[in-house]
Order: sequence, then C-alpha cells, then structure tokens
Amino acid sequence: MVDLDALRGKYLANIAAAADEAALEEIRLAALGKKGEISLMMRELGGMAPEARQAAGARLNVLKDEIDAALRARKAGMADAALDARLAAEWLDVTLPGRPRRVGSIHPVSQVMDEVTAIFADMGFAVAEGPQVESDFFNFDALNIAPEHPARQEHDTFFMARAADDPRPPHVLRTHTSPVQIRAMQAQGAPIRVIAPGRVYRMDMDQTHAPMFHQIEGLAIGRDISMANLKWTLEEFFSAFFETKVRTRFRASHFPFTEPSAEVDIQCSWVNGQLRIGEGDGWLEVLGSGMVHPKVLASAGVDPEQWQGFAFGIGIDRLAMLKYGIPDLRAFFESDLRWLRHYGFAAGDVPTVHGGLSR
Ligand code: PHE
Repeated sequence: MVDLDALRGKYLANIAAAADEAALEEIRLAALGKKGEISLMMRELGGMAPEARQAAGARLNVLKDEIDAALRARKAGMADAALDARLAAEWLDVTLPGRPRRVGSIHPVSQVMDEVTAIFADMGFAVAEGPQVESDFFNFDALNIAPEHPARQEHDTFFMARAADDPRPPHVLRTHTSPVQIRAMQAQGAPIRVIAPGRVYRMDMDQTHAPMFHQIEGLAIGRDISMANLKWTLEEFFSAFFETKVRTRFRASHFPFTEPSAEVDIQCSWVNGQLRIGEGDGWLEVLGSGMVHPKVLASAGVDPEQWQGFAFGIGIDRLAMLKYGIPDLRAFFESDLRWLRHYGFAAGDVPTVHGGLSR
C-alpha cells in the first residue's frame, strides 16, 4: 500500500498553502471527493484479505478525518481573517457630530385645510374636488350667474385664452369653489353632504387679498335640510375650529346661487390690539352662505321639488390668519423660509377631532 504518511504530508501542506476557499475546495475534491485519492483507496479495500483490510481501513479513516478537520479549520481561519479585515477597513466614528437634516413644515393653509376637513368629516361631510381652470358654465351659468349679471364683474375674473374666431365663452380660473357644488351634485345626485377645499383666483392684491387664495365650500342637500341646520353646523364648526365656544351672527345678504342668503360673522374682541375670537361684542365677517337656489339644483340635475339644502363658502387663508395671529396675507405665498419656519406646523402631526386639531 502507498505511503499514507507521505499522503498526509502532501495534503496538510497543500491545505496550509491554499490561497482561498476555492483552492480549499479543490483540495477537498482531490482527496475526499467521489473520485478523490483517499476515496479511491477506500474503494480498493474490498479486494483485500480481511485482516489487511481491517488495518488499512482504520488507518485510511484516521487520515480521512485528519484531512477533513484540517480543511474545516483552515476554512474557519479564512472566514475569521476576512472578518478582521472588514472590521479594520470599515469603521464608524460614533463620536462625530450627527449631520443635521432640514425638516420641512406644514404651511398654515394646509394645516387649516386639514383641521377644517377633520371637523366636517366628523359631521359626515365627504371631500369633493373640481378643476382650477373651470368652464364658464360651472363657474357662472350653473350657479345662476347670467352673462350680464354684475357678479361677473365683482369677481374680477382671470380669463383663459381662446382663439379669436372661437365663439364659445373662455374658460376661467375659478373665482370660487362653488362650481364644485354643481360637479358634486351632477356626479352623486341627492342626498349629498360634501365639502370642497381648494384654490380660487381673483384679480386683487393688498394686505388682505391675494390673486390666488383658498376656500372651502360646503354643501348639504336632503329632503328637509333648513337654514336652522346651517346655523347649527356653522356654530359647531367654528367652536371646534377655534377650540372655544363661538357665537355667530347671520346677516341677510345676496348671492345669485342661494336664496335666502346670509353672510356670517363670528364673535370677537380686540384687547390691546390683540384679536380674541369667541368673546366680546365685536363681529368679524368670515363666510357667505344660504339655501341653495332651486335653479342651481336644477342645473345640477337635482329636482328642486324634492330636495333642498344649504351651501357655504369660507376663506381658508382668512381663518388661518385669525386662528394663528398672522397679520399679512401676502406673506402666505412668498415662500420665505423664515416665515414658514415660524408659522409652519410639525409634519406628521395630523389634526383630528379626537386627538387635537392644533398644537
Ligand atoms: N361663492 C361665494 C364667494 O366666493 C361664497 C358662497 C358659497 C356663498 C356658497 C353662498 C353659498 O363669495
């Protein structure tokens, strides 16, 4: 039989000299693989005389175990060395100061929209939406504002371009969120209870007016929804929004799309130049409202003999100024980071009726 000591010497030397795991695997196959040197020798045992076979078999087994153990040990050694190398190369200085990340904030208009939506959602109003570039029909005609109606001038409308030979009236940047009343009723019919927050546009610019601002439209249509329901809903809303009991005052007014119409004031006082909502004997106008005009219901495909209800439109920017003491409307849309940081709200702090509207 071949010299097993020489074999052992050869394989142990090869294992010690192996450069990597692939080399180790080659050595394993050469010795212990199916056609490996040791395996073939084991197979030859069958042809030996019983006594010789026993002696040779035992020695071969010892050799096989020895080579196997050497292979495993070398492999483990390689893994340890690789880990040591990684640990030495990749390291983290945990004493370095952190890198600051700029955190954005929620704009007061977004915050107030979320607050108002949360309050009305709690009263069963869904959110509806419409386009900001609106057709003449939805912005005016369907709302009972005829072409010659003076309200068209009052709205200081931005008109979109039309080809000179196009006889159709031009589209407009919607002057209010009221067209969403029509769209929502056309899509859903009655009964319906929706609010529609969004941007509106009028040619106007001073400390309290911007050419783009925000409104929330409210609409509730049912079999017997009345002005009393409107008043309760708005008082409930303002008290929730300002987080204090707020009284309202309804003043007779006129809108083409409501009959009767009312402008609504909320109770307030000025103390040392400071505005306080919900106390004192001053009044602040905050919204327009009324019972939806039968013609408006009809133009939205709702039968005015069967259905009635109220609508209102609130200026959101105005509400934000009042609730958060912001003096100048123009700053809302200047994107000055100092202003945004000062008046902004923490992202992720979502207003809810049960969890709190503002912090
Ligand atoms: N659309 C009116 C405005 O922008 C507000 C309003 C809405 C009034 C709904 C009555 C009913 O001034």
